[in-house]
Amino acid sequence: MCGIIGYIGDKCAADILISGLSHLEYRGYDSSGVALMHGSEIDIYKASGKLINLIEILKTKKAVTSISNIGIGHIRWATHGLPTTANAHPHTCTCKSLTLVHNGIIENYQELKEDLLKEGCIFRSETDTEIAAHLIASEYGKTLDLLEAMQNAVKKIKGAFAFCAIHKNEPDKIVVAKRNAPLVLGVGNGENYIASDIPAIIEYTKKAIYLSDYQVGVITKNDIKIYDEKGKLIPNKIEYMPFEAMAISKLGYKHFMIKEIHEQSDVVRNNLQGKLIEHNKPIKLDDFKLSSSDIKKLSRIQIIACGTSLHAGLVGKYIIEKYAGIPVDVEASSEYIYRETIADKNTLVIGISQSGETADTITAIKQVKEKKSHIAIITNRADSTMARLADSLIPVNAGIEVSVAATKSYMAQLISLYLLAIYLNEAKGIKEYKEEIARLKQELIELPNKIEALLENTSEIQRVAKKYSSYKNFIYIARGINLATALEGALKLKEISYINATGYGAGELKHGPIAMLDENMPVLAILNTGIVYDKVLSNCEEARARQAKLIGVTNYISEKDRALFDDLIMIPDASDILSPALNIIVLQLLAYYIAEYLGKDVDQPRNLAKSVTVE
Ligand code: G6P
Repeated sequence: MCGIIGYIGDKCAADILISGLSHLEYRGYDSSGVALMHGSEIDIYKASGKLINLIEILKTKKAVTSISNIGIGHIRWATHGLPTTANAHPHTCTCKSLTLVHNGIIENYQELKEDLLKEGCIFRSETDTEIAAHLIASEYGKTLDLLEAMQNAVKKIKGAFAFCAIHKNEPDKIVVAKRNAPLVLGVGNGENYIASDIPAIIEYTKKAIYLSDYQVGVITKNDIKIYDEKGKLIPNKIEYMPFEAMAISKLGYKHFMIKEIHEQSDVVRNNLQGKLIEHNKPIKLDDFKLSSSDIKKLSRIQIIACGTSLHAGLVGKYIIEKYAGIPVDVEASSEYIYRETIADKNTLVIGISQSGETADTITAIKQVKEKKSHIAIITNRADSTMARLADSLIPVNAGIEVSVAATKSYMAQLISLYLLAIYLNEAKGIKEYKEEIARLKQELIELPNKIEALLENTSEIQRVAKKYSSYKNFIYIARGINLATALEGALKLKEISYINATGYGAGELKHGPIAMLDENMPVLAILNTGIVYDKVLSNCEEARARQAKLIGVTNYISEKDRALFDDLIMIPDASDILSPALNIIVLQLLAYYIAEYLGKDVDQPRNLAKSVTVE
């Protein structure tokens, strides 16, 4: 986590750094800071709390800050040390000649600190980052060259980092280094940019150089020089950044989250384009590189992901097992890493990640790559680290998602998994389910219109949100394919309103959670017509008998059963198999309106970050 930014050129560096940091807030927002170079002086400004606090400080110093054209900045998600001003970046060495911002974690910081203390370094924070500032400065003392100092220092550091450093003695450059943390260089005309992610610099340039692990770069106004691990200068590979500045505006919506919820019909359309043409034509999935004969040899599939992406994986398991007849395990990346997993060349490993930068998933993928399994990556960032590790890269094309709580990227992941499941079925030549799949394809084609119909009138969801916003706990239940929806819906509520919501398989209610039920514990049940409908209805009866308030989310209810529920939210008619794509929108909206009603910071919930780049 954490976001870093750098600028060198002729413009006001402070303005560019602040604008960049505002687009990196999704990576952390507990404190921030900038270092501005003018002449051979470096001024540092830091603030705890939201970025606005730093902006306020800079406003009062406008006369000094506006003259600087070189600077580095940081927005923090605390790992080592509280989110105080002292712990905010940039950090400096003892004599304050060198200043540094960092994203990542230095694992051997204790060990390095002991040596640096012996050298007489004075530490002013509790962060691991400060160790790097002292270490690079110590190396600088030996070489008097910032590039060499950085190259020597990173060899001694264990862990993950993206560094941006400036030094008073070399005031015309920024030196950067990267290992297991994202860093992109924006190429301008007589100016250059550095950022953790594209949105921070997209309004200034579309040309980018993506730094690879172990590379070190020297950025000046007119030049970018990149060196490999051995110190050899390598040619610059310029790519075009795949986003428009427009994508990072709220377009009149109050929050990014509600804007992104409303974008989901287009997200589905984009995803289906060129892949699902008609209900009676096979799915085209050019991104998937396994041949039919390799697909036929697959003995198992492992889906690895975190958070919301993990829930998409659970839907994936259900449909792939059903239509492709291949056993699927779904596991949190953080658990997958630390056990003996069984995978071989006949295993398909699917990594799902909105950001493509989640450290746990990257580690898990790197680990399993050694076992010769085919790696498919389903991601919203075709330019990410994970995308670069893929044998098959399946971009979900949801567009930049700014709100920390994932919504449209989940929808895009679901659609990619439906297409993949059908593709595997067709590649294996499975005759079973032929008609059902043709119906599913037709339903997928009609899905964007159904999503629009659902989003057209949200007044009932808003009413229910207001009614239940004072409850402190919720239980969400569902069975079958919608169990994932219950888990994801409960996660949404937790993330943005801090209400304790837990998702359970409805059949599990009676094996423990039922003990919690009384009139203060609302139960939200997802029931869609299909094989588990009656079962979920019985589970609702059990909850009702314990006086729990019942909210139903369904595509159908009989007059007789209607009375069971305190509140009912109807979705457009849908088959059980595709209903997760509609039910989740209701739960996203419910979470959104409850959080909004409670006055929570919807797009930037406390303690969270959108891209979790630490294990
Ligand atoms: C963080 C985000 C979640 C996200 C999870 C996995 O925890 O706050 O919204 O689901 O990371 O991220 P990924 O980018 O791998 O999907």
